Amino acid sequence: MNLTVKQTKRITGEVTVPGDKSISHRAVMLGALAEGTTTIEGFLMGADCLSTINCFRALGIPINVDGRKVAVVGGGEKGFCTPDTVLDTGNSGTTTRLIMGILASEPGLYAVLNGDSSLNGRPMGRVTKPLMQMGAQIYGRADDTMMPVTIRGHHLRAIDYQSPVASAQVKSAVLLAGLRAQGKSRYTEPSPSRDHTENMLKAFGADLSRSGNTVELEGGQVLTGQRVQVPGDISSAAFLIVAALIVPQGHLIVKNVGINVTRNGIIEALQEMGADIQILNRRFFGREEVADLEVKSSSLRAAQFGGSLIPRMIDEIPALAVAALTAEGKTIIKDAQELRVKESDRISALALELKKLGAAITERPDGIEILGGRLLQGTLVSSHQDHRLAMALAMAGLIAQGTTIVEGAESVTVSFPDFTEVLKSISRGKLI
Ligand code: S3P
Repeated sequence: MNLTVKQTKRITGEVTVPGDKSISHRAVMLGALAEGTTTIEGFLMGADCLSTINCFRALGIPINVDGRKVAVVGGGEKGFCTPDTVLDTGNSGTTTRLIMGILASEPGLYAVLNGDSSLNGRPMGRVTKPLMQMGAQIYGRADDTMMPVTIRGHHLRAIDYQSPVASAQVKSAVLLAGLRAQGKSRYTEPSPSRDHTENMLKAFGADLSRSGNTVELEGGQVLTGQRVQVPGDISSAAFLIVAALIVPQGHLIVKNVGINVTRNGIIEALQEMGADIQILNRRFFGREEVADLEVKSSSLRAAQFGGSLIPRMIDEIPALAVAALTAEGKTIIKDAQELRVKESDRISALALELKKLGAAITERPDGIEILGGRLLQGTLVSSHQDHRLAMALAMAGLIAQGTTIVEGAESVTVSFPDFTEVLKSISRGKLI
């Protein structure tokens, strides 16, 4: 599907964004592991989270979907059934990596995981390696580091693991496997990644502790089903925030956005560039902090970003790059080599596509440099079948002269199914 975006002056209104993708996945997974029923409100009905639901249904977990409400009847002690089909994890890295930890620790279970061509090209060794150290039996391509993979569930033993990457998916896979392993699992990350798994495990009754960058969890703990209220996804909100910042007349309120400190790096980064973003009505949905964000058009200035801020805004860098197109001076984003192994190589794809619009952008091995203030001209650009790239390019289209056509825009259904409708509403139909 092509998405056509016209240069736009005004972005206004009050909107909500779909539920947080990371939290929606985890609510289904912990609900499936728990005793009793878990109810989830504000669930993200995007393709990735639906892949998680379908996998757990295939594992014998009853899951009822009613609008954006989901009820999961946990397997608890009884565990999961061996599925009679291949588990299709689609485009979803989170489904794949977290489920590996769960399945590897389920004695007697046998499962095969397969994804789409993008997912089957992404690195899985970062998860299979620590799990195999725990005793997991996982077989896959490229020395068990790539999908498709086969898992034979087993009794695992706890490990003390120092991860080379700040990845919440790796951390969560080890913690979820550790939940049923023998002994105390310790996981150390180089800098803090999103902590939704830790927050939700605690909410479901698990005892775990964090000291510095190390999380500890004793095996053999039982979870109890809960009510989960999912905040709006800051990763989706980021595109709308940037839209309101970069057009001449922008004034937007985005309601109920999750602002967990391990995720809110994008707000800090944009504010450092001079963005007018007010954080209003701070409150909690369970253990997750939520706020309404008020955003007004701003004259941005370039800045440099790297270090521990990067994992706190890794998924928002495509949106940040678009904001940098309007900033005065050169914005440098470094220490972000993880972008190369997302749904696309987001460094090279962003550089390639934004250049087509006339942007002055250079690739670095670990990031990008963007010289702001260039006049952009709308043209045909490609999403590379990456949802966040599609949305970033649509935002760039707002400030490019004429019309920008984003090819492969159906990929937005992965995380923001009603993206087009929301864009129509905040531009009063002028944009699309
Ligand atoms: C996610 C973690 C991040 C992020 C992804 C979702 C999660 O990936 O990019 O979109 O839900 O745990 P990594 O764990 O690879 O950093």
